[in-house]
Amino acid sequence: MSTNNEEMIVTPWEVSGRIDYDKLIREFGTDPLTLEVLETVQKHTGTLHPQLKRKIFFSHRDLEWILQRYEAGERFYLYTGRGPSGPVHIGHLVPWIFTKHLQEKFDAKLYFQMTDEEKFLHQDDFTLEESEKWTYENALDIIAMGFDSKKTKIVIDRKSMDVLYEVAIRIAKHVNFSTVRAVFGFHDSTNIGLTFFPAIQAAPAFLESALLGQNVPCLIPAAIDQDPYWRVTRDVAPKLGYYKPAQIHCRFVPGLGRGGKMSASMPETSIFTVDPPELAQKKVLDAFTGGRATVEEQRRLGANPDICSVYSYDYFLFMDDKEIEDLRYNCFAGNILCGECKHILAERVMKFLEEHQRNREKAKAKFAEYLFNPKDL
Ligand code: TRP
Repeated sequence: MSTNNEEMIVTPWEVSGRIDYDKLIREFGTDPLTLEVLETVQKHTGTLHPQLKRKIFFSHRDLEWILQRYEAGERFYLYTGRGPSGPVHIGHLVPWIFTKHLQEKFDAKLYFQMTDEEKFLHQDDFTLEESEKWTYENALDIIAMGFDSKKTKIVIDRKSMDVLYEVAIRIAKHVNFSTVRAVFGFHDSTNIGLTFFPAIQAAPAFLESALLGQNVPCLIPAAIDQDPYWRVTRDVAPKLGYYKPAQIHCRFVPGLGRGGKMSASMPETSIFTVDPPELAQKKVLDAFTGGRATVEEQRRLGANPDICSVYSYDYFLFMDDKEIEDLRYNCFAGNILCGECKHILAERVMKFLEEHQRNREKAKAKFAEYLFNPKDL
């Protein structure tokens, strides 16, 4: 498990240590989401989405460019994805919520890639049968989010490989081994499925253009750990005559433990969308907080929301601006105790899960409707 003092590691397969997001912007060579950029976004969306206001989405590439094209009448499409390796937790939902917001505000089509070979290639003991199971299970979560079914296509790699392969090989021809070795840390013993895989994850960024036979701008909302793929994709784009895809990057949602992001490998500190609400409640009640050792101390000295996992959940997902401001104040001031705070969050998490689980049930009947089919174009 990661602690706050460890060295920061951010790759598509590993995120650990204390994450310094400004440093990531510098290292990855992305641009911060400045107030000016946010103002341009707001021109189109009315109010700013809380995830922008709170800097949960904090970095981008070419967002201004894509908005300029939009203003000039050129529509863009959205592309995001999921590597189905286990149950979805509520940290995964954060960028999906934002993607849905973008879809609504910009009336945009969305390709949602499910990389059902990724974990199989990456992990020795993960079978294709397991992958199939989690692909279906995770697709239900995606559909339960309420994306517009007419505008959203779930692209499952192994089911859509005929179409993806065309685009992927064109990409692959322009990416050599030394590039992927440098970008992804591959080495001589890396299997060749993995070394080809970046071309498959890049393909949806050009898919709409390839299928329509004309350039369509693409915006990718995703957590910042996926950025290495987009660097490679952007390098290849002009060689194929396509636009470079734009990106908007989000932070990692912390787990309910002490430091570290929410991760399926740490089930006690992750809330899965399929958790029975009572189990989720228990996890919240056991969460790490920024509280003091005794009630008396907390009343006297106040607590620290900035290290508190309960506060971060309220911040990432569950509270509006006024509530967050009040909570922050009351926490520092010692006016509220951790038990109280946990109960408030637990109630909301349970309510959220009940609704999501109802939508997930309904999603079973809609699965086919969301599946990508090039004939629907
Ligand atoms: N590699 C991603 C994962 O492991 C899945 C993915 C594929 C993705 N395409 C994407 C994520 C586009 C974000 C955007 O979860």
